[in-house]
Amino acid sequence: MSWKRYAKDFILYSVNFRREPKQMSTCFPTSKYAARKMAGQIGDAKYVIELGAASGKVTKEILKELPEDGKLLSFEINPRLAKELKRNINDPRLEVIVDDAGNIRDHTSGVDCIISTIPLTTMKKAEREHIIQQCYDTLDRGNYVQLQYCKAVKKELEQRFGTVEIKRSFRNIPPSTVIYNCRK
Ligand SMILES: C[S@@+](CC[C@H](N)C(=O)[O-])C[C@H]1O[C@@H](n2cnc3c(N)ncnc32)[C@H](O)[C@@H]1O
Repeated sequence: MSWKRYAKDFILYSVNFRREPKQMSTCFPTSKYAARKMAGQIGDAKYVIELGAASGKVTKEILKELPEDGKLLSFEINPRLAKELKRNINDPRLEVIVDDAGNIRDHTSGVDCIISTIPLTTMKKAEREHIIQQCYDTLDRGNYVQLQYCKAVKKELEQRFGTVEIKRSFRNIPPSTVIYNCRK
């Protein structure tokens, strides 16, 4: 990714951070290194959900890993960012859904992998628990991969998924970003 592209996304994120600070949680797009680390967890999954796609930093890396006959459903609650995502990526495997991650069960079930960058820590506990439960129920068997900037939600993820593996991405802002890998 070029610096020009990164700067453009930084401006887009900053504008939306001012409007919706809790939903965005940061002005910095995920780096391609952290995005690749997350996307690398999809394994041989064919049907993948992404939560909190924004302009598509992680989306692009997931699509690189996804087979030609795969399907990616990307959820984004912010309609302005969803519009930007649709403009940025033209791929027949991608469907953009403008809705809350808490409603994924209304759209689908039986998915192989969920990749999420939504900020769980800025949500109220009840909302966070609801989303984690929805993710668990929507997964058939596979990985739920969640990026966070701290280890605050580890216990809640363990309560639902059992064992939770932690990876770190040092080439991201902030450095030492946490990537949870939860297996169902
Ligand atoms: C930290 S940004 C990550 C954006 C991008 N995926 C990246 O990694 O650079 C979080 C994104 O999640 C979206 N979001 C926050 N809460 C959400 C929810 N409950 N459902 C769907 N999207 C949500 C925000 O609008 C924002 O685009």
